[in-house]
Formats: sequence, structure tokens, C-alpha cells
Amino acid sequence: MVQKALSRRRYFFGNRARILYELIGWQFRNAHDLRFMNYGFADDTQPGPDLHPEDEAERYCAQLYHALATQADLKGKNVLDIGSGRGGGAAFVHKYMQPRRTIGCDLARNAIRFCQRTYGDVANLKFTRANAMDLPFDDASFDAVLNVESSHCYPDCNAFFAEVFRVLKPGGCFLYTDFTAPGKAPAEYIRDITAALDRAGFVNVESSDITQQILRGLDADNDRRIREIHEHFPFGTRRLACLWAGTRGSWIYRDFASGDRRYVMYHLSKPEPAALRPIAPSKLVLAVEPARTDQVPA
Ligand SMILES: C[S@@+](CC[C@H](N)C(=O)[O-])C[C@H]1O[C@@H](n2cnc3c(N)ncnc32)[C@H](O)[C@@H]1O
Repeated sequence: MVQKALSRRRYFFGNRARILYELIGWQFRNAHDLRFMNYGFADDTQPGPDLHPEDEAERYCAQLYHALATQADLKGKNVLDIGSGRGGGAAFVHKYMQPRRTIGCDLARNAIRFCQRTYGDVANLKFTRANAMDLPFDDASFDAVLNVESSHCYPDCNAFFAEVFRVLKPGGCFLYTDFTAPGKAPAEYIRDITAALDRAGFVNVESSDITQQILRGLDADNDRRIREIHEHFPFGTRRLACLWAGTRGSWIYRDFASGDRRYVMYHLSKPEPAALRPIAPSKLVLAVEPARTDQVPA
């Protein structure tokens, strides 16, 4: 009962998330092999992308960025990754999808320091500190905005969507993925987010449920995650670290497996001026796969 109530809490939210990510950034300040902080993605219907050997260790995390970013053609574009964390996703997109310029931004100072040290010599890849709800960029300055597993930390998603809309050029795209919050039915949460995206002005809302691919990614990456937790987190903090990392048996893993929590990927557009408001309500294509009951621990 108590466990269930605790598992409904939003641990990584608002100020708590800000402090946690600063602490994580400090704890991992010299871990140059750890460049991603997402749950990963594995699709058994198609092979993953070819990666350079140095990118193989965090393949599943890179695959989440790959699945999201390949929904659009980013070649030659100006790209912004909001909530870029340790920079692995922005660097992956920059290296494999050849945008003209990529900027990663994050609220955590320690994450930005790490990225500036780690990727400082990569041409046209920059990192800067920014709050997703109050972005320090000009209007219409990006062709594409990415956001991966970060928005669940934001206290005001309406402000976030308004900021993404503002910094995108007309015709630009917003590639967005995150999981639903605990304590609310996933379908209701997804309806609210979709309505908020619509209110912000986005059109061509397409979404897909990728919970099964996230679970496969977590399964495939489980041993590496446990190893990293034992290496980097002091005894006493490892349980919270397992929840954060989504290892098998953690609440978040069980929530994904039981269907209490869903992971959704969106592809949206900012309309061209002539079509600033959609004539018909935005189209929502949500392919909800059945929950994977075989993964629910007894
Ligand atoms: C789970 S990590 C994901 C990082 C990265 N996207 C990845 O996939 O590796 C969430 C990130 O969101 C950042 N974040 C939380 N609140 C934020 C805010 N208000 N503005 C910008 N970034 C924020 C955190 O500091 C953290 O780096």
C-alpha cells in the first residue's frame, strides 16, 4: 500500500528534478562514457542504425533519439535539443543526421559544463543553459526542436509548448517524446497533452505509443544500467537510482509493463502563416499496443 502510494509520486519534477539533475551531473562529472539519460529504445521489427564503435555502449539510448529524429529530414537544418542532459542525443543527431547547426540546452549547470568540456571541439555543436519554459532564443530561429524524456520534469507544459512554438520557424517541426505521469490514467494524460499541443498552435499532430520498444530497450540494457549504478552511486542511493534508471523490477519498469504508464512519441509542425490555424481538428494517430503482461513481476 505504502509502496504503491510512493510509486505514484512524481520524483523527477520541478525543483526536485532540478536538484536531482544537478547532483547527478556532479556525481557523473568525470564519467565521459555516460552521455545519455533516457530509457532507451529497441524495435524488434527493424535493425537499429549502424553506429561507430565508440557509440555502441549506449546504443539503446541513441536509438531513442534515432527513432524520434528520423521522423524528419534534419540535414542542413538548425536544430535545438531542449533538456539535452549529458549531450549524447544532441551529439548523436549532429554526427549522424548532418544538421547545419545543433544547440543543446538544459537547466542543469553541471550537465552543461560536462557537455561544453566533452563536445567543445565539435564544429557547430553548442550547449547552453536554459529553462525549457523560458528559452533564451529568438523567435523563429530553429527548423526543428527535439525534446527527449525531459518534459515530465516541467511544472508548466503549456509554457514549454508556447516557447517551442515561438522559437520554431513556420513549417518547422517539433519532435517530442516522453512518458505519462503517474497518478493519472495514461489515456487521460495523453488527451490533455494533445489538447495542450493543439492549443499551442501545432498541427499535423501524429503520435505513437512506443512503450513496448522502451521496455525492450530497458531489457536489453539492464545489465549495463545495474553496473553503472553500482559503480557511480553510493550504497543507500541505489534504490532511487534504479527507479531513475528504470532497471527491471523498479516501479517505473513495472508501470510500463502493466500499462499504468505509457511512453509516447510525437511529430508536430508549426504551420506556415497562410494556415496558422488548422481547419479540421488535429489528427491524432495513436497506436496503443496491448500491455506486456508477461513482464509484470509477480
Ligand atoms: C532524463 S534526462 C534526459 C536527457 C537527454 N534528453 C537524454 O535523453 O539523454 C532529463 C533532462 O531534463 C533536464 N531538465 C529538467 N527540467 C528542465 C527545464 N525546466 N528546462 C530544461 N531542462 C530541464 C534535466 O536537467 C535533465 O538533464
